[in-house]
Amino acid sequence: MKKMLILSALLLIPAFAILIATQNPEEKPAGNLVPVTQDAFGAPFTLTSHEGEKFRSSDLSGQYQLIYFGFTYCPAICPTELQKITATLNALNPEIAAQIQPVFITVDPERDTVKVMRDYLTLFHPSFLGLTGTQEEITQVLNDYKVYAAKVDDPSLTEYTMDHSSYIYFIDPEGRLLRLYKMEDTADYMVRDMTDWFKART
Ligand code: NI
Repeated sequence: MKKMLILSALLLIPAFAILIATQNPEEKPAGNLVPVTQDAFGAPFTLTSHEGEKFRSSDLSGQYQLIYFGFTYCPAICPTELQKITATLNALNPEIAAQIQPVFITVDPERDTVKVMRDYLTLFHPSFLGLTGTQEEITQVLNDYKVYAAKVDDPSLTEYTMDHSSYIYFIDPEGRLLRLYKMEDTADYMVRDMTDWFKART
């Protein structure tokens, strides 16, 4: 059921699915790096930060970004991926890490309030920015960033859970999507791959 949902979501966005399919981690030599998109990825948004401030996507321009979409109640995958971003930032050359803004955008704004986001992010890298918003605002951002997310009622649980796609988006200061890191990409791999990006540009 879960797989079918994810598959049908990908079929709705075939171009994006092809982009994902053509990302082969074994074939990424340094200095031969082509962005996934030539234009800015996503679309402008205004959300609310984990500090309760209005936050515009334009506040991120000029910065590299590692963006992850998930939810704080996620039992396993989201914390693993956020920990992976944390480990990557800690292992990168500090001069490179300082240029990268990690961002966690909730797919579950109903439960992920400002306070819940703020408390949750204390578990991860201190530079993390958490973003939440109204259901309408979040739905728009999910559509613009090609994120699949759906509420799932599990009769064995007292609370609902969220089924969602899981990619780490590596975005450059011009807003172009450089990479989609997958769950099987390790922090070590991300460090090597991102270091190659910065080497190729200097
Ligand atoms: Ni999750």
